[in-house]
Amino acid sequence: MKTPIVDFLQEYAAASRTRLHMPGHKGRGVLGCEELDITEVKGADALYEADGIIAESEANATALFGSARTCYSAEGSSQCIRAMLYLLEKHRPAGTAPLILAARNVHKAFVYAAALLDLDVEWLWPETSDSLCSCRISPQQLEAALQAQPYPPLAVYITSPDYLGGVADIAALAEVCHAHGTYLAVDNAHGAYLHFLPEAQHPLDLGADICCDSAHKTLPVLTGGAYLHISRRAAHLAADAKQALALFGSTSPSYLIMASLDSCNRYLAADFRPALIGLLPVIEAAQATLRQAGWQVESSDPLRITVRAPHGSSGFALAEKLREQGIEPEYADEEHLVLMISTQNTPQEVQLAVAVLGVNSQPYAARPTLPQARGEQQLSIREALFARSEVVAVDEALGRICGAPAVSCPPAIPIAISGEEIGAAAIALFKHYGIESVEVVK
Ligand SMILES: Cc1ncc(COP(=O)(O)O)c(C=O)c1O
Repeated sequence: MKTPIVDFLQEYAAASRTRLHMPGHKGRGVLGCEELDITEVKGADALYEADGIIAESEANATALFGSARTCYSAEGSSQCIRAMLYLLEKHRPAGTAPLILAARNVHKAFVYAAALLDLDVEWLWPETSDSLCSCRISPQQLEAALQAQPYPPLAVYITSPDYLGGVADIAALAEVCHAHGTYLAVDNAHGAYLHFLPEAQHPLDLGADICCDSAHKTLPVLTGGAYLHISRRAAHLAADAKQALALFGSTSPSYLIMASLDSCNRYLAADFRPALIGLLPVIEAAQATLRQAGWQVESSDPLRITVRAPHGSSGFALAEKLREQGIEPEYADEEHLVLMISTQNTPQEVQLAVAVLGVNSQPYAARPTLPQARGEQQLSIREALFARSEVVAVDEALGRICGAPAVSCPPAIPIAISGEEIGAAAIALFKHYGIESVEVVK
């Protein structure tokens, strides 16, 4: 597969042109990558008006993912989420209400998008909760929630895989959505690789209408590189995709990031599948070894190992144990340790993490149930986020209205959402996740 952006950058650097154009580093600097970091010079195309090398590269990505249209983002899934919601609202299906039904474990980018677009959101809650990160919604639950609405919402929005690797039954959820005449939008930030599994499991393969992937999270792509994918079923959204992304993006997207997405196309087309197929048994064996050694390993998407901390320990303590041996995990909280693995890891790296965790001799208590912070919506998300606000200690927040969404990062999943009254359950969750102060409306 051709890599038109990479080729252009390399030729431009090799030509040693005198750069009387942006950026100010002029191709020289301490990082070593400056010579490839250019602006929209002649021949370099432009991300939001692409008809040259960027369009060619995006067409390659479109073919690789089998979408109606795949667009690049150099500003992460965060930008794509805003663009998705804009597109869905702009193309609201006839007979639907201007409302989005969203599983509550959204990333904060969703809340920002809802504020910017002044969208109404109703939340889908899990039956019970044992982590802020997960929000399992069954097709039956979605069916009941849709039947309870006077009109279908314009879209249903879910996050899958979630930060712990929980995967939704997208095929069944998509069927329910489509039967009700609404879109299924998926935050697939953690699952760009899913299309390339022996049995494709990407949201688009399973019936989602639109989704975002943070290519940088699971593929060899620079931080910030992401895809906005539009399915063939929702191909009528494709024509406005660039405008939607431009609305929320810088007019100076990074060519380094775009080149890295371009270079990834070649990898996806040739070596990625065999590498992935080689990696899967390594991860499965690591999970099996951990289970045999007394650890509870959660079921997750294939490129993740999520270990539950036993009684008397914590995910934080397990993370420290790894750090002492030079291993940095993706995420830890009180209950979990999350390791994210990609084809760029060696089997030895995975095995080393397993060896460092060693044998667990502590028992597991029953799964803890966390309270659900179902605060009453007193203001719209937009009103609350645009209102004057102040920061108060968590203990003083009871009864106040949440301003900016209160999150710990990662996983950047809000406990209280802008406009919600902060109740006792939210305060208990703030404390559980180590949040000491929150922004509230004045
Ligand atoms: C579930 C989820 N969605 C969206 C995002 C935002 O992605 P990005 O960092 O690519 O903007 C993240 C980032 O961690 C995430 O975990």
